[in-house]
Amino acid sequence: MKKEFWNDTVVVITGASSGIGKALLEELAIFPCQLVLLARRAGDIPEPTAKHKDTILHRVTCDLSDPSSVQDAIDWISKRIERVDVLFNNAGITAHGRFDSLSMEVYRKTFATNFFGPVQFIKGLLPLVTIAKGNIVTTSTVSALYGVPGRAAYSASKSALHAALESLRIESLDLGIGVSLVCVPYTDTALRTSGLDSFGNLLTEAPAKGKRKSAKEVAHVLMEVAKDKEARLVTFNLSGKFLEWMRFFSPKFLEKILYKKLYDDFKTH
Ligand SMILES: NC(=O)c1ccc[n+]([C@@H]2O[C@H](COP(=O)([O-])OP(=O)(O)OC[C@H]3O[C@@H](n4cnc5c(N)ncnc54)[C@H](OP(=O)(O)O)[C@@H]3O)[C@@H](O)[C@H]2O)c1
Repeated sequence: MKKEFWNDTVVVITGASSGIGKALLEELAIFPCQLVLLARRAGDIPEPTAKHKDTILHRVTCDLSDPSSVQDAIDWISKRIERVDVLFNNAGITAHGRFDSLSMEVYRKTFATNFFGPVQFIKGLLPLVTIAKGNIVTTSTVSALYGVPGRAAYSASKSALHAALESLRIESLDLGIGVSLVCVPYTDTALRTSGLDSFGNLLTEAPAKGKRKSAKEVAHVLMEVAKDKEARLVTFNLSGKFLEWMRFFSPKFLEKILYKKLYDDFKTH
Protein backbone atom coordinates (compact mmCIF):
# COMPACT_ATOMS: atom_id res chain seq x y z
CA MET A 1 0.00 0.00 0.00
CA LYS A 2 1.26 3.50 -0.85
CA LYS A 3 2.32 5.49 2.22
CA GLU A 4 0.21 8.57 2.82
CA PHE A 5 2.45 11.50 1.88
CA TRP A 6 1.78 13.49 5.06
CA ASN A 7 2.30 10.69 7.57
CA ASP A 8 5.41 11.31 9.73
CA THR A 9 6.21 14.57 7.98
CA VAL A 10 7.36 17.78 9.62
CA VAL A 11 5.42 20.71 8.20
CA VAL A 12 6.00 24.38 8.95
CA ILE A 13 3.15 26.83 8.28
CA THR A 14 3.56 30.59 8.56
CA GLY A 15 0.37 32.57 9.04
CA ALA A 16 -1.39 29.65 10.72
CA SER A 17 -3.64 31.85 12.88
CA SER A 18 -6.10 32.81 10.13
CA GLY A 19 -7.40 32.21 6.62
CA ILE A 20 -5.43 29.91 4.33
CA GLY A 21 -2.80 29.00 6.95
CA LYS A 22 -5.49 28.04 9.44
CA ALA A 23 -7.20 25.94 6.75
CA LEU A 24 -3.87 24.16 6.11
CA LEU A 25 -3.69 23.39 9.82
CA GLU A 26 -7.24 21.97 9.77
CA GLU A 27 -6.58 19.81 6.71
CA LEU A 28 -3.18 18.52 7.87
CA ALA A 29 -3.99 17.82 11.51
CA ILE A 30 -5.83 14.62 10.54
CA PHE A 31 -2.50 13.04 9.60
CA PRO A 32 0.09 11.81 12.12
CA CYS A 33 2.63 14.56 11.53
CA GLN A 34 4.36 17.43 13.31
CA LEU A 35 3.00 20.87 12.53
CA VAL A 36 5.03 23.95 13.40
CA LEU A 37 2.59 26.85 13.38
CA LEU A 38 3.78 30.43 13.22
CA ALA A 39 2.03 33.78 13.55
CA ARG A 40 2.19 36.89 15.70
CA ARG A 41 -0.92 35.51 17.42
CA ALA A 42 0.48 31.98 17.69
CA GLY A 43 -0.91 31.66 21.21
CA ASP A 44 -4.43 32.10 19.82
CA ILE A 45 -4.14 29.32 17.23
CA PRO A 46 -6.96 26.99 18.29
CA GLU A 47 -6.87 23.22 18.40
CA PRO A 48 -8.01 21.86 15.02
CA THR A 49 -11.51 20.39 14.91
CA ALA A 50 -10.20 16.94 14.02
CA LYS A 51 -6.74 15.84 15.06
CA HIS A 52 -4.95 12.52 14.67
CA LYS A 53 -3.89 11.12 18.05
CA ASP A 54 -0.21 11.18 17.00
CA THR A 55 -0.21 14.69 15.54
CA ILE A 56 2.06 17.09 17.38
CA LEU A 57 1.47 20.85 17.22
CA HIS A 58 4.10 23.47 18.01
CA ARG A 59 2.96 27.08 18.21
CA VAL A 60 5.74 29.58 17.64
CA THR A 61 5.21 33.32 17.97
CA CYS A 62 6.87 35.18 15.14
CA ASP A 63 6.53 38.65 13.67
CA LEU A 64 7.91 38.37 10.16
CA SER A 65 8.38 42.14 9.96
CA ASP A 66 10.84 42.01 12.88
CA PRO A 67 14.23 40.41 12.05
CA SER A 68 14.98 39.52 15.69
CA SER A 69 11.61 37.79 16.07
CA VAL A 70 12.25 35.83 12.86
CA GLN A 71 15.70 34.81 14.13
CA ASP A 72 14.18 33.69 17.46
CA ALA A 73 11.68 31.53 15.56
CA ILE A 74 14.45 30.01 13.40
CA ASP A 75 16.49 29.25 16.54
CA TRP A 76 13.48 27.76 18.33
CA ILE A 77 12.73 25.45 15.40
CA SER A 78 16.36 24.52 14.71
CA LYS A 79 16.87 23.44 18.35
CA ARG A 80 13.85 21.11 18.38
CA ILE A 81 13.25 19.92 14.83
CA GLU A 82 15.63 17.79 12.78
CA ARG A 83 14.20 18.27 9.31
CA VAL A 84 11.44 20.15 7.49
CA ASP A 85 9.57 18.21 4.80
CA VAL A 86 7.29 21.03 3.75
CA LEU A 87 7.59 24.72 4.51
CA PHE A 88 4.37 26.56 3.70
CA ASN A 89 5.57 30.14 3.38
CA ASN A 90 2.06 31.49 3.63
CA ALA A 91 1.83 34.54 5.93
CA GLY A 92 1.37 37.90 4.31
CA ILE A 93 -0.46 41.20 4.30
CA THR A 94 -2.00 43.24 1.56
CA ALA A 95 -1.75 47.01 1.19
CA HIS A 96 -4.35 49.00 -0.70
CA GLY A 97 -3.58 52.37 -2.20
CA ARG A 98 -2.29 54.07 -5.32
CA PHE A 99 1.42 54.17 -6.07
CA ASP A 100 1.50 57.89 -5.19
CA SER A 101 -0.70 57.77 -2.09
CA LEU A 102 0.82 54.79 -0.26
CA SER A 103 3.13 56.12 2.45
CA MET A 104 6.75 54.96 2.40
CA GLU A 105 6.06 53.41 5.80
CA VAL A 106 3.44 51.16 4.18
CA TYR A 107 5.78 50.19 1.35
CA ARG A 108 8.42 49.28 3.98
CA LYS A 109 6.00 47.38 6.24
CA THR A 110 4.60 45.43 3.28
CA PHE A 111 8.08 44.47 2.11
CA ALA A 112 9.15 43.65 5.68
CA THR A 113 6.26 41.19 6.04
CA ASN A 114 5.98 39.79 2.51
CA PHE A 115 9.60 39.87 1.37
CA PHE A 116 12.35 40.39 3.96
CA GLY A 117 10.72 38.28 6.69
CA PRO A 118 10.02 35.29 4.42
CA VAL A 119 13.49 35.50 2.83
CA GLN A 120 15.15 35.52 6.27
CA PHE A 121 12.92 32.70 7.51
CA ILE A 122 13.46 30.49 4.45
CA LYS A 123 17.23 31.15 4.54
CA GLY A 124 17.27 30.14 8.21
CA LEU A 125 15.33 26.90 7.65
CA LEU A 126 17.01 25.93 4.39
CA PRO A 127 19.42 23.49 6.09
CA LEU A 128 16.45 21.63 7.61
CA VAL A 129 14.54 21.62 4.31
CA THR A 130 17.67 20.33 2.57
CA ILE A 131 18.08 17.46 5.05
CA ALA A 132 14.54 16.32 4.16
CA LYS A 133 14.91 17.13 0.45
CA GLY A 134 11.74 18.99 1.20
CA ASN A 135 9.49 21.44 -0.51
CA ILE A 136 9.04 25.19 -0.01
CA VAL A 137 5.55 26.23 -1.09
CA THR A 138 4.76 29.93 -1.14
CA THR A 139 1.25 31.34 -1.05
CA SER A 140 1.52 34.09 -3.61
CA THR A 141 -1.07 35.96 -5.58
CA VAL A 142 -2.16 36.73 -9.12
CA SER A 143 -1.23 40.32 -8.20
CA ALA A 144 2.42 39.21 -8.34
CA LEU A 145 2.12 38.41 -12.04
CA TYR A 146 1.67 42.05 -13.07
CA GLY A 147 1.78 45.34 -11.17
CA VAL A 148 -1.89 45.68 -10.28
CA PRO A 149 -3.39 49.18 -9.91
CA GLY A 150 -4.15 50.11 -6.31
CA ARG A 151 -1.80 47.36 -5.13
CA ALA A 152 1.68 48.76 -5.92
CA ALA A 153 3.23 47.76 -2.58
CA TYR A 154 1.54 44.34 -2.44
CA SER A 155 2.23 43.41 -6.07
CA ALA A 156 5.84 44.58 -5.79
CA SER A 157 6.54 42.74 -2.52
CA LYS A 158 5.15 39.46 -3.82
CA SER A 159 6.79 39.64 -7.24
CA ALA A 160 10.12 40.50 -5.58
CA LEU A 161 9.69 37.30 -3.57
CA HIS A 162 9.04 35.39 -6.81
CA ALA A 163 12.39 36.56 -8.19
CA ALA A 164 14.31 35.69 -5.01
CA LEU A 165 12.76 32.22 -4.82
CA GLU A 166 13.36 31.56 -8.51
CA SER A 167 17.04 32.28 -7.85
CA LEU A 168 16.93 29.88 -4.91
CA ARG A 169 15.27 27.20 -7.04
CA ILE A 170 18.00 27.31 -9.67
CA GLU A 171 20.80 27.46 -7.10
CA SER A 172 19.35 24.41 -5.34
CA LEU A 173 18.92 22.23 -8.42
CA ASP A 174 21.35 19.65 -7.06
CA LEU A 175 19.88 19.67 -3.52
CA GLY A 176 16.67 17.89 -4.47
CA ILE A 177 14.39 20.46 -2.87
CA GLY A 178 11.27 21.95 -4.44
CA VAL A 179 10.48 25.66 -4.59
CA SER A 180 7.06 26.65 -5.85
CA LEU A 181 4.97 29.80 -6.07
CA VAL A 182 1.22 29.39 -5.98
CA CYS A 183 -0.68 32.39 -7.34
CA VAL A 184 -3.93 32.33 -5.44
CA PRO A 185 -7.03 34.21 -6.70
CA TYR A 186 -9.53 36.04 -4.45
CA THR A 187 -10.16 33.89 -1.38
CA ASP A 188 -12.53 34.32 1.57
CA THR A 189 -10.17 35.23 4.42
CA ALA A 190 -9.43 38.19 6.69
CA LEU A 191 -6.92 39.67 4.19
CA ARG A 192 -9.07 42.75 3.54
CA THR A 193 -9.19 43.58 7.23
CA SER A 194 -5.67 42.47 8.19
CA GLY A 195 -3.97 44.53 5.47
CA LEU A 196 -3.05 48.20 5.45
CA ASP A 197 -4.45 51.31 3.82
CA SER A 198 -2.24 54.07 2.36
CA PHE A 199 -1.57 55.51 5.81
CA GLY A 200 -0.81 52.26 7.60
CA ASN A 201 -4.24 51.83 9.23
CA LEU A 202 -5.92 48.43 9.17
CA LEU A 203 -8.18 48.01 6.15
CA THR A 204 -11.91 47.71 6.67
CA GLU A 205 -12.87 46.53 3.21
CA ALA A 206 -15.69 44.22 2.21
CA PRO A 207 -14.73 40.94 0.51
CA ALA A 208 -13.81 41.20 -3.17
CA LYS A 209 -16.78 41.10 -5.53
CA GLY A 210 -17.37 38.07 -7.72
CA LYS A 211 -16.20 34.50 -7.39
CA ARG A 212 -13.99 33.71 -4.43
CA LYS A 213 -12.24 30.52 -3.35
CA SER A 214 -12.65 29.14 0.12
CA ALA A 215 -9.55 28.90 2.30
CA LYS A 216 -10.08 25.13 2.39
CA GLU A 217 -10.05 24.87 -1.43
CA VAL A 218 -6.80 26.82 -1.55
CA ALA A 219 -5.29 24.68 1.22
CA HIS A 220 -6.01 21.56 -0.86
CA VAL A 221 -4.24 23.01 -3.89
CA LEU A 222 -1.23 23.99 -1.73
CA MET A 223 -1.13 20.46 -0.30
CA GLU A 224 -1.09 18.95 -3.81
CA VAL A 225 1.65 21.36 -4.90
CA ALA A 226 3.69 20.32 -1.85
CA LYS A 227 3.83 16.77 -3.21
CA ASP A 228 5.24 17.89 -6.54
CA LYS A 229 8.92 18.90 -6.61
CA GLU A 230 8.50 19.90 -10.26
CA ALA A 231 5.88 22.54 -9.48
CA ARG A 232 7.12 26.04 -10.21
CA LEU A 233 4.62 28.81 -10.91
CA VAL A 234 1.13 27.54 -10.22
CA THR A 235 -1.96 29.48 -11.26
CA PHE A 236 -5.45 28.31 -10.38
CA ASN A 237 -7.68 29.50 -13.13
CA LEU A 238 -8.01 31.50 -16.31
CA SER A 239 -7.48 34.88 -14.62
CA GLY A 240 -4.01 33.79 -13.47
CA LYS A 241 -3.16 32.27 -16.85
CA PHE A 242 -4.49 35.39 -18.57
CA LEU A 243 -2.15 37.69 -16.61
CA GLU A 244 0.77 35.33 -17.17
CA TRP A 245 0.29 35.19 -20.96
CA MET A 246 -0.87 38.73 -21.65
CA ARG A 247 2.28 40.22 -20.10
CA PHE A 248 4.09 38.85 -23.14
CA PHE A 249 1.43 38.81 -25.85
CA SER A 250 -0.32 42.14 -25.36
CA PRO A 251 0.57 44.18 -22.27
CA LYS A 252 -1.28 47.20 -23.68
CA PHE A 253 -4.54 45.25 -23.90
CA LEU A 254 -3.95 43.78 -20.43
CA GLU A 255 -3.38 47.22 -18.90
CA LYS A 256 -6.62 48.54 -20.44
CA ILE A 257 -8.52 45.64 -18.89
CA LEU A 258 -6.89 46.11 -15.48
CA TYR A 259 -7.66 49.86 -15.65
CA LYS A 260 -11.34 49.23 -16.32
CA LYS A 261 -11.81 46.23 -14.06
CA LEU A 262 -10.02 47.67 -11.04
CA TYR A 263 -10.92 51.34 -11.59
CA ASP A 264 -12.82 51.58 -8.29
CA ASP A 265 -9.89 50.04 -6.44
CA PHE A 266 -7.45 52.80 -7.30
CA LYS A 267 -9.42 55.90 -8.26
CA THR A 268 -10.99 56.14 -4.83
CA HIS A 269 -7.84 55.52 -2.76
N1 LIG B 1 -7.25 36.11 0.57
C1 LIG B 1 -6.93 36.35 -0.68
O1 LIG B 1 -7.76 36.79 -1.50
C2 LIG B 1 -5.53 36.04 -1.15
C3 LIG B 1 -5.28 36.04 -2.53
C4 LIG B 1 -3.98 35.78 -2.96
C5 LIG B 1 -2.99 35.53 -2.05
N2 LIG B 1 -3.24 35.54 -0.72
C6 LIG B 1 -2.13 35.30 0.20
O2 LIG B 1 -2.50 34.32 1.13
C7 LIG B 1 -1.65 34.43 2.28
C8 LIG B 1 -2.48 34.19 3.53
O3 LIG B 1 -3.39 35.26 3.68
P1 LIG B 1 -4.93 35.05 4.00
O4 LIG B 1 -5.69 35.40 2.78
O5 LIG B 1 -5.15 33.75 4.65
O6 LIG B 1 -5.16 36.27 5.02
P2 LIG B 1 -5.38 36.35 6.60
O7 LIG B 1 -6.61 35.61 6.96
O8 LIG B 1 -5.30 37.79 6.93
O9 LIG B 1 -4.12 35.57 7.18
C9 LIG B 1 -2.84 36.16 7.14
C10 LIG B 1 -1.92 35.37 8.06
O10 LIG B 1 -0.60 35.97 7.98
C11 LIG B 1 -0.14 36.21 9.31
N3 LIG B 1 0.70 37.41 9.35
C12 LIG B 1 0.38 38.65 8.92
N4 LIG B 1 1.37 39.51 9.22
C13 LIG B 1 2.32 38.79 9.86
C14 LIG B 1 3.57 39.11 10.44
N5 LIG B 1 4.05 40.37 10.45
N6 LIG B 1 4.29 38.12 11.03
C15 LIG B 1 3.80 36.85 11.05
N7 LIG B 1 2.64 36.48 10.53
C16 LIG B 1 1.89 37.45 9.95
C17 LIG B 1 -1.40 36.41 10.14
O11 LIG B 1 -1.16 36.04 11.50
P3 LIG B 1 -1.02 37.10 12.72
O12 LIG B 1 -1.91 38.25 12.41
O13 LIG B 1 -1.43 36.29 13.90
O14 LIG B 1 0.42 37.45 12.73
C18 LIG B 1 -2.36 35.42 9.52
O15 LIG B 1 -2.23 34.16 10.10
C19 LIG B 1 -1.00 35.80 2.20
O16 LIG B 1 0.36 35.65 1.84
C20 LIG B 1 -1.75 36.49 1.07
O17 LIG B 1 -0.97 37.41 0.38
C21 LIG B 1 -4.49 35.78 -0.25
